[in-house]
Formats: sequence, structure tokens, C-alpha cells
Amino acid sequence: MNTILLGPPGVGKGTAAKRMVSAYEIPQISTGDLLREAVKNQTELGMQAKKYMDAGELVPDALVIGMLKDRVAREDCAKGFILDGFPRTIPQAESLDASGIRIDAVISLVAPEEVIVERLGGRRDCPKCGAIYHVKNSPPKKEGICDQCGTALITRDDQKPEVISNRLKVYRTQTEPLIGYYRKKNLLKEINAVQPIEAVFKDIQRALG
Ligand code: AP5
Repeated sequence: MNTILLGPPGVGKGTAAKRMVSAYEIPQISTGDLLREAVKNQTELGMQAKKYMDAGELVPDALVIGMLKDRVAREDCAKGFILDGFPRTIPQAESLDASGIRIDAVISLVAPEEVIVERLGGRRDCPKCGAIYHVKNSPPKKEGICDQCGTALITRDDQKPEVISNRLKVYRTQTEPLIGYYRKKNLLKEINAVQPIEAVFKDIQRALG
């Protein structure tokens, strides 16, 4: 099963993807995580991507498309995958179609902007194992420490209020048109993301059949 998770920053794509990985035993491919890893390792791609990410802008299509195709070609994707944060522009979606990679369903997570801003503001990440927390909605057992591996949690560089507001603007202009793109292809499944995390995941399972 090849699935795309679509939605604005902070709506809960990463959180839902992690539950889908356990349930369906297929990998989550987050272009955001791949890019952050490239920045951390100071690769050529990472050095080019950093200035866009820090400003809340999208990394140019040419850089992201190549990285994504390399990742999907790996053996662990043979039974399926969950694309989290890709495609994010119409050209990215068209390049996915042109590459012959089949998509079975597009899960669109829907929430109003005030919910999204609150979620992004309270998000905390484990830099070691990638677990995602929220200070109010899904706090770790011990404040500031990852339940799974004991590492100190961090706030991502792109969580500053001015960067959050640009990320939302970029979403509306460049990514939201994908909703119509996939609706026309009859692949879109809209899920109400303003529910507890487990209820969102149950709705996704139902939509995937
Ligand atoms: P990326 O890493 O993809 O970030 P994003 O899409 O902006 O989204 P987030 O990861 O911040 O949010 P999310 O929807 O995964 O929500 P989460 O589960 O964390 O991209 C970062 C940057 O990389 C981009 O700005 C761009 O520069 C670049 N990039 C990436 N892909 C690209 C591409 N294809 N092309 C070009 N550039 C690209 O949840 C948020 C919070 O809410 C958490 O704290 C969580 O605990 C909480 N939460 C989640 N669900 C619920 C719920 N149901 N109820 C209550 N709380 C909840």
C-alpha cells in the first residue's frame, strides 16, 4: 500500500505516520526528516536546503524530487510506504506520477489554523529516536525527556512564531492545491484531525479499508 499523508505543518502527519508504521509494517518517508538529517551531516544537499528550511520556505523541487526517488527505490519500500510531507507542490506530484510510482490513497488531515498553531507551538521532538510529543496533548512521562530512549527533547529551529506563520502561508499557496489535484484522481480521503490522536488513526484505518 503506497500512501501519501497531506496536510498543513503541525496538523499531525508525523504523529499519524508513526502509528501507521507499526500497524502496516511499512516505512514512513518524511522528506522533512531526510532533509534535517542531510543538514546535520552537512552534505551538499543539506547545506543547500538549510537556508530554505530556516526561513520556512520549501526546498527547491529539483533537490527534493531526486532525494525522494532514491529513498523509494530502496528495498524496504517494496511492500509499500507512507509519504509524509511529499509531494508539497504540483510539480512534485507530477514528477511522482511521471516516475511510474503508484499511489493507492492520499490521506488529507484537516484542522483549522488556530489548532495547528497551538500544536506547533507545543511540539517537542526527540533528536535521537524521532518520537514526537506535545507539552499538553501528549507530554512525556518526565518533563523534557523522551519516554522511549531517555534523550533530552528539543524544539525544532523552524518552530519560531515568525517561521511558523511563513510555513502556513507557503502551505496555503504551494501545497493546498494538491487537495484538488488528488480529489480529481479520486484518491483523496479527508480525515478530521481535530480529535484525539488514537481517533485520528482509527479514521485513517477505516479510510484505507
Ligand atoms: P516537515 O518536517 O515535513 O514539517 P511540516 O510538514 O511543516 O510538519 P511538521 O513535522 O511540523 O508537523 P506534522 O504535520 O508532522 O505534525 P506532528 O505530527 O509533528 O518539513 C520541514 C521543512 O522541510 C519544510 O518547511 C521545508 O522547508 C522542508 N521540506 C520538507 N518536505 C519538503 C518537500 N517535499 N519539498 C520542499 N521542501 C520540503 O504534530 C504536531 C504536534 O501536534 C505534535 O506536538 C503532536 O504531539 C501534536 N498532535 C498531533 N496529532 C494530534 C492530535 N490528534 N491531537 C492533539 N495533538 C496532536
